[in-house]
Amino acid sequence: MNTKARKVMIIGSGNVGASAAYALLNQNICEELILVDLNKALVEGHVQDLSDAAAYMPGMMTISTRDASDCADVDIAVITVSGGALKPGQTRLDELTNTAKIVKSIVPQMMAGGFNGIFLIATNPCDIITWQVWKLSGLPANQVIGTGVWLDTTRLRRTLAQQLDIGAQSIDAFILGEHGDTQFPVWSHSSVYGSPIGSVYQRHTGKTLDREQLAEKVRKLGFEIYAGKGCTEYGIAGTIAEICRNIFTGSHRALAISCILQGEYGVRDVAIGVPAVLAQSGVQQIIELHLADDELAKFRHSASVIQANIARLP
Ligand code: 2OP
Repeated sequence: MNTKARKVMIIGSGNVGASAAYALLNQNICEELILVDLNKALVEGHVQDLSDAAAYMPGMMTISTRDASDCADVDIAVITVSGGALKPGQTRLDELTNTAKIVKSIVPQMMAGGFNGIFLIATNPCDIITWQVWKLSGLPANQVIGTGVWLDTTRLRRTLAQQLDIGAQSIDAFILGEHGDTQFPVWSHSSVYGSPIGSVYQRHTGKTLDREQLAEKVRKLGFEIYAGKGCTEYGIAGTIAEICRNIFTGSHRALAISCILQGEYGVRDVAIGVPAVLAQSGVQQIIELHLADDELAKFRHSASVIQANIARLP
């Protein structure tokens, strides 16, 4: 029997960090949660509050706070730090400078502390920060993952699920590219059990699927949520929990997440959303799809936008 406690460290105790902790706890994904934040009063408040919630769970869960450098025994470190909330009209790329500075101060401390687990980056701009963490950490590429377009993929699936009256798990549709404005749905590979999404939609609704409108809706959903409540938290927390679960269980399930590419899809030295198989060691393999010509062009454009922003890193 494997008796080793699964340990997740969450760096940043804002809305995303706290919601991720709550999702991990309620879904029983690990035995130990470690919260890190410079605001000691805030983090201690979350530790006590989450410990109350954990007391209702069937198993034992330990919730504590530590310094980021005290991480040698951590399996997954989730980066949720933020350099400030998005202002109206800003894109995720506008968050780069402030967030990158914080990340640059934390990751070397963690590496000096002996971290050798998996980094999971949820902080925006997600793909660029994923690349930054990879570079700063010096870890193999398979140990650095960004939540990337898995949240957008989930948004696409749950929207289609409602329109088609078919469970989201049975909808094989997904988004590739940047977790940002250049993302795109891969319609050439979108189906329900092999039946193209467009045909299923036509049969169910009697109408033609407006692909552009749906892609736009998914692309903008994060900003709509932002406009309503000033942040997004539960959706991304679900994404974090799902990725952690697949890593811990060694599911070998393929999710569309941000990975470091080294020549796949004709691009290299960039982190971008692609389907990747998750194992206990992190990314076990990247799936290279045969994309339609227009999709490949969109993918490469998305990669070039991410690369241009990587060049802006401090
Ligand atoms: C989201 O898409 C804003 O990246 C955040 O929920």
